[in-house]
Amino acid sequence: MKTLFTNIKELVDTGPTVGDLHISNNQAVLVDDGLIAFIGDEESAPDADVTIDTEGAVMIPGFVDSHAHLVFAGSRHEEFSHRMAGHSYSAGGIKTTVAATRGATDQDLRENLKKLIAELHASGITHFETKSGYGLEVETEIRSLMLASEVTEDVTFLGAHVVPQGVNREEYLELVLGEMLEKAAPLAKWIDVFCDAGAFSVEESRMVLEAGIKKGLLPRMHSNQLENLGGIALAVELDCASVDHCTHLNPEDIELLAKSNTVATFVPGAEFSTRSKYPNVRSLIDAGAKVAIATDCNPGSSYTTSMPFCIAVAVREMGFSVDEAIWAATKGGALALRNDLGTLKVGARADFALLDAKSYIDLAYRPGVALVSATYVAGKKVFERTSN
Ligand code: NIG
Ligand code: FE
Repeated sequence: MKTLFTNIKELVDTGPTVGDLHISNNQAVLVDDGLIAFIGDEESAPDADVTIDTEGAVMIPGFVDSHAHLVFAGSRHEEFSHRMAGHSYSAGGIKTTVAATRGATDQDLRENLKKLIAELHASGITHFETKSGYGLEVETEIRSLMLASEVTEDVTFLGAHVVPQGVNREEYLELVLGEMLEKAAPLAKWIDVFCDAGAFSVEESRMVLEAGIKKGLLPRMHSNQLENLGGIALAVELDCASVDHCTHLNPEDIELLAKSNTVATFVPGAEFSTRSKYPNVRSLIDAGAKVAIATDCNPGSSYTTSMPFCIAVAVREMGFSVDEAIWAATKGGALALRNDLGTLKVGARADFALLDAKSYIDLAYRPGVALVSATYVAGKKVFERTSN
């Protein structure tokens, strides 16, 4: 099945370095068997079975969301409201979601997951990672991973999210490193740990990640969101694909990241929703580090599925240029998951979003406006905005 997308006013591709976007105008794209088979003038396009006139749309690579917590139950809107009334955020709120998740059936969790994925698609996200971490006991962690593996290949075991209420710290770590990891390893690709105040120390994080690596999992980290405990050095030493949050970085961290293959992933929704000071990425990007932007969608600290929202905040508040932010949400996300998505090139998987916009710049210039008109994964339409 060959589909030709015509009348693409602006087509955006990504290059290898942060902020490297290649823009071409008045293009046609042929999708053959889920892959991009041709990009160029409509006149020189090969024959197709179906033609779709994009009516002057902007085509961008689908966003790659490298950090999301989609397997959970319940909501913490009251906690959010309290916080906006002046109370501070701590990792403690996670326990509320843990209780709700443990009490939910697989079907409840699956339905919530499905709803969130539809939202991701509506925001132009074509590939996402998701993790466990709201079970914090063997049964619910494993259920979470099974549900996650129904929807993505990027499944992350986050048994070490926080120590659950009423459980001794040493005993919990023993469980995570032992029985939980044993059962999680065949279901997950990644091992993650929340290395931060109120969660796990650098030494504990090392134990968790090294145990996961021994079981064949690949490391990534939540670190430096609330404080800088020294997690960046560990992330770089263990060659984590990504270290996420990076709200508090010192000059040594920046130097280490710049010399590494570890992507620094920023989650603007978390600073937004916890009313925290935004980090500034200038010195990190200028030093040559690779950066990604992710939604961190979770019911506590960042309940958004909107990558355009994250891009707009990243540009307005975190020092990203527009091009850097678009790159970070596409190619950067792909690097943070060590895959080859986030580009629009012949041979790439046909993952893209169509924007009803004058330019991709509108993603930051027109905050809060639903610009994504359709989203395609491997050439298949997964979202189309119906006019109202
Ligand atoms: O990425 N930082 C750790 N975990 C989540 C927050 C989870 C929650 O508050 O429920 C995050 O922000
Ligand atoms: Fe997170």
